[in-house]
Amino acid sequence: MKLTIPTYIQAIEPYVPGKPLEALEREYGISDSVKLASNENPLGPSPKALAAIRNGLTALHRYPDGAGHLLTRKIASANGILPTNVVIGNGSDDIIALLVRALIRPGDRVIVPRPSFLMYAISASAAGAVVDAVPLKDLTMDLDAMAERVTADTRLVFVCNPNNPTGTVVTQTAFDRLMNRLPADVVVVVDEAYIEFVSNPDCLKTGQPSDVNRPLVTLRTFSKVYGLAGLRVGYGIMPASLAEILNRVRPPFNVNSMAQVAAAAALDDQAFLQQTVGLVHRGLDELYGALDRMGLSYFKTEANFFLIDVGQPADVVFENMLRQGVIVRSMRAYGFPTYIRINVGLESENRRFLRALETVLSRKDTR
Ligand SMILES: Cc1ncc(COP(=O)(O)O)c(C=O)c1O
Repeated sequence: MKLTIPTYIQAIEPYVPGKPLEALEREYGISDSVKLASNENPLGPSPKALAAIRNGLTALHRYPDGAGHLLTRKIASANGILPTNVVIGNGSDDIIALLVRALIRPGDRVIVPRPSFLMYAISASAAGAVVDAVPLKDLTMDLDAMAERVTADTRLVFVCNPNNPTGTVVTQTAFDRLMNRLPADVVVVVDEAYIEFVSNPDCLKTGQPSDVNRPLVTLRTFSKVYGLAGLRVGYGIMPASLAEILNRVRPPFNVNSMAQVAAAAALDDQAFLQQTVGLVHRGLDELYGALDRMGLSYFKTEANFFLIDVGQPADVVFENMLRQGVIVRSMRAYGFPTYIRINVGLESENRRFLRALETVLSRKDTR
C-alpha cells in the first residue's frame, strides 16, 4: 500500500487515554483494581439516565433523531438560550472536531494553552493548522499572553476552564480583557467540561444568554459530573449562525439514541449532580489532608482531579501504582515529569490510592 499522508498528519502524536480497568486486569492478572485516571464520576451514571436508557432500548432498531430535538431543547431551556444556539456532539471532543472542520484551512493559526487538554492541538493539527501553544503562568492560563499571540491568520482560541490538568480557573475580568482585544473573526472556545465542580466565585462561566451574540463557543460534557463518559455526549453553545454552519458538517447521527435520552434525563437529575459535587469536595479535603501528612506537595484544584508531585519520575510511579492495582496518570507528557494526576474517587478508592502511593514511595528502588 502506498499512501500519501500530509506531513501535518504524520506529525501528530496520538492522544493517549487513561488505561482502562479491563486492560490493567488482563495485563497484570489482578482483579479489583481502581481507576483514578480519566476524571470520571466514581458514583457511576446518573440513575435517571439509566432509567431513560432502559425505556429507550426497544427503539434501538430506529435511527436516532438526527436533530436531537428533545436533548437540544432541554439544553437550551437549562441555559436560558434557544435550541438554535446548541450543537450536540459525540462527546465534547466531537464539537472540537466540528469547529475545526468548519473554521480551519491549512495554514490558519489556532491558539491553545499549554499544558492543557491535548485534543485542541490534535484536532487543529489534523486540519493543517499552525498551533500556537501559550505557556501557563503560575499554573493558570495567561489570557493576556494568548491575546498577544493573535495574528491575522488566527481563527480559534481555546480556553480550558477549569484547566485540565492543573485544575485552575480564569476570572471573568481576565476573560473580558481577552475578548475585547480580539478581532471579530476570531472565535473563542471555552471548554467547561468541569465547570460544575468549581467553588471559586470569581471563576468565569460562559454559555449565558448574553454570550450567544459573541464569537464565543462554550463546550460542556455529560462525561464528568453526569457520569456518562461511555455514552459519548456533549454539546456546544454558540451563536445561531455558527451552529448552523456546524450542523452542516456534523454527521446527522453523531449522537446515538441512548446518549440522547440519557443526557436529557441526566440534565433533570440535579440531585445526582449535587451528590457528585459533594463527594468530590469531601474527597479533596481528605486527600489533601493525607498528602500533607505524607509531606507531598500538590496543586489545589477547582475540578475533580489534581496534580501531585511524587518527587521522582512520574512514569515509574505510574507503573508501580499499576502493580498495586491503581491507575493514575503520569504528567510527563504534559511537562510535569515528577507529577501524577488523579481524580477523586469513592472514599474507599481514595484510601486505596493513598495506601498504594505510600507503599510505592516508601520503596528505595522504585523500578
Ligand atoms: C478539558 C476537557 N475537555 C473535553 C474533554 C472530553 O470530554 P468528552 O468526553 O465530552 O469528549 C475532556 C475529557 O477528559 C477534558 O478533560
